[in-house]
Amino acid sequence: MLDVPGLNKVYEGSGRRVEAVRDLTFTVEAGELVCLVGPSGCGKTTLLKCMGGLLIPTGGEVLLEGRRVTGPPPGMAFVFQEYGRSLFPWMRVAANIELPLKQKDLTRERRKELVTDALRSVGLADAAGAYPWQLSGGMQQRVAIARALAYEPRVLLMDEPFAAVDAQTRADLEDLDLGLWRERGITILFVTHDIDEAVYLGQRVIVLSASPTVVQEQLKVDLPDRRDQLHTRVAPRFAELRTHVYEQIQAAKRGVPREPGVTTSDTPPPH
Ligand SMILES: Nc1ncnc2c1ncn2[C@@H]1O[C@H](COP(=O)(O)OP(=O)(O)O)[C@@H](O)[C@H]1O
Ligand SMILES: [Mg+2]
Repeated sequence: MLDVPGLNKVYEGSGRRVEAVRDLTFTVEAGELVCLVGPSGCGKTTLLKCMGGLLIPTGGEVLLEGRRVTGPPPGMAFVFQEYGRSLFPWMRVAANIELPLKQKDLTRERRKELVTDALRSVGLADAAGAYPWQLSGGMQQRVAIARALAYEPRVLLMDEPFAAVDAQTRADLEDLDLGLWRERGITILFVTHDIDEAVYLGQRVIVLSASPTVVQEQLKVDLPDRRDQLHTRVAPRFAELRTHVYEQIQAAKRGVPREPGVTTSDTPPPH
């Protein structure tokens, strides 16, 4: 579904040159939920913006179903890190969700249907007439997710979407995300700096090094697809996987290179 061969991104301007992403290569299969985890400032947002066609890579390319991404592709939706700033405060919730749909060739009735359906999916059927600023942080983030869903994307890019909400809300939103992924068969690329979140959500975890970023490791998460906050997080395998990812991130910070390739259950993490 997504193919990233040799992506490089250098920011240049005002006499400053920052190589954010050095050389990233990975693929995402259709219907997969892949988590990208890496330290703060390592280039995760830069990478996602390149994937979503919001930034032009300096080198390499992003391919969506074999076609080069040169601008925001139809069929791809983005949930930003700063949801507070991604909703228009002067528009009611329903109008915020409907806005991107106006680019599509849909009847007014169909747009309304999609908005209602998306709000119901995120448990906010009652909030259609509210303004974003009347809602809690967690509810605002649900609106941002509803807006992405209403667009009926095949690929959903999520940039640390739950970083700014409290732990309880975050757990709820993680489960909401898993549920939507299972129901709708969307391909999700989920960026986080939280190791537990990456292991809890991902079918696969891609560990990124510190900036300039390369892929430190890819890890297959061999936990059952059905996960829940109570049991999954206390499973011994969950603990092994999170320890392994933690060690990889520490190694990445020290700049220790890894052999490329995917670690699977056949090659269990050390310990
Ligand atoms: N617009 C920009 N201009 C210059 N440098 C930038 C810009 N955006 C990000 N950077 C730099 O690129 C690096 C990666 O940033 P970012 O992608 O936001 O990392 P992350 O999302 O992992 O925290 C940082 O060193 C950051 O300062
Ligand atoms: Mg970021």
